[in-house]
Amino acid sequence: MSLPAADLSKQPDNRTTMDLGAVLPATAEVRGGHLFVGGVDMVELAREQGTALYVMDEADLRERMRAYLRSFRSRHENSDIVYASKAFLNKEAVRIVAQEGLCLDVSGGGELACALAAGFPAERIFMHGNNKTPRELREAISAGVGRIIIDSRIELARISEIAGELGVEQAVYMRVTPGVEADTHQYVRTGCEDSKFGFTMRDGFAFSCVKDVLAAPNVRLAGLHCHIGSQIFALHSYPEAVEVMVELMARIKREYGIELGELDVGGGLGVAYTADDRPASIDEFAETVTSAVRAACAKHGVAEPRLLTEPGRSLVATPGVTLYTVGIIKTLPGIRKYVAVDGGMSDNIRTALYHADYEPVVANKADLPRTEIVTIAGKHCESGDAVVIDMPLQSVEVGDIVAVFGTGAYNYTMSSNYNGQPRPAIVFVKDGEARVTTRRETYADLMARDL
Ligand code: LLP
Repeated sequence: MSLPAADLSKQPDNRTTMDLGAVLPATAEVRGGHLFVGGVDMVELAREQGTALYVMDEADLRERMRAYLRSFRSRHENSDIVYASKAFLNKEAVRIVAQEGLCLDVSGGGELACALAAGFPAERIFMHGNNKTPRELREAISAGVGRIIIDSRIELARISEIAGELGVEQAVYMRVTPGVEADTHQYVRTGCEDSKFGFTMRDGFAFSCVKDVLAAPNVRLAGLHCHIGSQIFALHSYPEAVEVMVELMARIKREYGIELGELDVGGGLGVAYTADDRPASIDEFAETVTSAVRAACAKHGVAEPRLLTEPGRSLVATPGVTLYTVGIIKTLPGIRKYVAVDGGMSDNIRTALYHADYEPVVANKADLPRTEIVTIAGKHCESGDAVVIDMPLQSVEVGDIVAVFGTGAYNYTMSSNYNGQPRPAIVFVKDGEARVTTRRETYADLMARDL
């Protein structure tokens, strides 16, 4: 697949790095023409660590976690924030989530193993997945995870049986698809009726399955869950989903005499990938969700539940930056200019997969205006392999270091070894210090499992 034809009328925006606003990690600054993040010179870091390189602004990440807790707890005291580890996960991320007092969403045995290995308290782990294998369920239940989010009747039977064998009672939520269409890319819309996830509200199916969960031995129904999608800008879908969920809670109370004490409304808050994107703030998101819960509970006569949200992207996307070295430049007159870097779809599949937008700068010319329109291509054997399609960049030369902003979410966790590309290292930067939290893969790593 090749790239969409370039829009040749697109003009450079002449912005310098610091004009990029909400796309920048909180500690981004320019000193002596170089981009600094966390007080660390990105050009020097690229030289020391090699490229491609994932960089994480630790202070920004921690502050976003605190902002989520503050925003929700100041409006709804009994709230918890569940970090969606699918967005970004290594052991250091797990430690930070634990230190900041968040809970952790894992969606499989591998994410669970990483969380446990980093010492995350099992009772604060929420286990997701539409097809958790019996082995994964056994791992989760025997580790003592706090909640398992049940996605189907088949899974209910598995959990009930395994918990029985292990002699424990497992607390669960039921994942419900509230039939709400979130305003986002169709591949990341999950709350609508045609979805592989959860129990559909259609024809009273979810409601009738509640009875099965209540009747199942070794299982305790603690609450309900929904997740309507990801990269959501228009917040109106949340009150719609909350209304459906609280109405269901009220019906359960009325007809089964059980008051469910917990409601998890999922994640999905969008972030700015381009300087012109205007996502809602964490505060606006919290205000929308908490006031919707309050209003729906009053309307339907149910007690306000413990409220959970599961942000991934809005915590970790913006603190992340990827550094590359420019290797080849090709200008195709009347078509586009290609700047090829030493990474690509192996470290960031989102551009090829969703035609995602990203803002790039030349880290060693960070104070200069972006005077060209370029496509930043990767080094993979595929025409659709690009990190940035037709965006402004400073006048660029071979050997320059390019920084791409907003790559902290769904880049590393969706990375691959395509074309035998070793995965980049992950460096956390803070207060002028850089620390490698995941080392770069080696060629030996690539073959380590081959017999
Ligand atoms: N909770 C559940 C059950 C989820 O499935 C997800 C994301 C989240 C929470 C976190 O959503 P967030 O706050 O990050 O939007 N690979 C796609 C995104 C897929 C999202 C999958 N589920 C991308 O790169 O855009």
